[in-house]
Amino acid sequence: MTNHVHVFDTTLRDGEQSPGVRLNLDQKLTIGRALVDLGVDIIEAGFPISSPGDFESVNTLAKELKGVTICGLTRARQKDIEVAAEALQPAERRRIHTGLGVSENHLQHKLRMTREQALEVGVNAVKLARQYTDDVEYFMEDSGRADPEYVYQVVEAVIDAGATVINVPDTTGYTAPDEYMALIRNIITHVPNSDKAIFSCHCHNDLGMATANTLGGVLGGARQVEVTVNGIGERAGNTSLEEVAVALHIRKDRFGCETNIQLNKLLAISRMVSELTGMIVQRNKAVVGANAYAHSSGIHQDGVLKERSTYEIIDPTLVGAEKSEIILTARSGRHGL
Ligand code: KIV
Ligand code: ZN
Repeated sequence: MTNHVHVFDTTLRDGEQSPGVRLNLDQKLTIGRALVDLGVDIIEAGFPISSPGDFESVNTLAKELKGVTICGLTRARQKDIEVAAEALQPAERRRIHTGLGVSENHLQHKLRMTREQALEVGVNAVKLARQYTDDVEYFMEDSGRADPEYVYQVVEAVIDAGATVINVPDTTGYTAPDEYMALIRNIITHVPNSDKAIFSCHCHNDLGMATANTLGGVLGGARQVEVTVNGIGERAGNTSLEEVAVALHIRKDRFGCETNIQLNKLLAISRMVSELTGMIVQRNKAVVGANAYAHSSGIHQDGVLKERSTYEIIDPTLVGAEKSEIILTARSGRHGL
């Protein structure tokens, strides 16, 4: 297994689904260019059938951005796939991302299909998508709450049909990190043709575990992470790109993996996305928050002034911040002053 983790950025699709966020075409292009510069491997540029605006933005990013795979989301429906293929046509490298739910909850309440019906629809969607590109990702919505035996069956069938990347979304942010790691690991060991695909983590942050779950998935053998800048996205958001990239770097001893992300550009893109989306980054946000490299208590200031590593595991310049700060507060001591 390779140690390269592909970074699949979905700021412009799942991220743009954040309540209150609406990006125009220019803003999407600006973010898209910055993502290429940052070193992401795949940009999910939108959901082409969902609106003429989404079609236009996927199509424009496909024309303008080079050196990156452009991906469009579809439901497992013929029209969705045809429209996505048309929008992605000008791309240097294109990916169709299709799929449907696998949990009993989604099958019964949303899709109103039996397991067998859903499996057949999924397999046909992959076969159709493969007529337009040899890079087809299949998502199994709500995998985190699904019966693993059914998940194995779906994975085997869609890989046989031509899927090259298998997305295992924890759509509702329900799983714990050890469970998500086991889910990925068990899929890889139970599915006979699993060596023909890359497995992808797509975790939502409803219980604040998205980054931990994604890193658990990498330990379980996933080699793609689906992330957004600042962790923006539906409800409590998606996994933060910057948290995963820096965790893989700082804890290379633990994860043994690397990405192509230019870490020193993380702070700049975080600020850009915050400004363009209007989504404020909380001060204590890991990696890019305003307080992430600020020390205010006397005990910590004393330690940092003697030796930075006493209280800092990330050198702020790594992510493009200038330096750490010593903030004078009522809790500062003589040494800090
Ligand atoms: O959270 C999710 O399941 C998704 C899929 C559409 C990939 O965003
Ligand atoms: Zn999602």
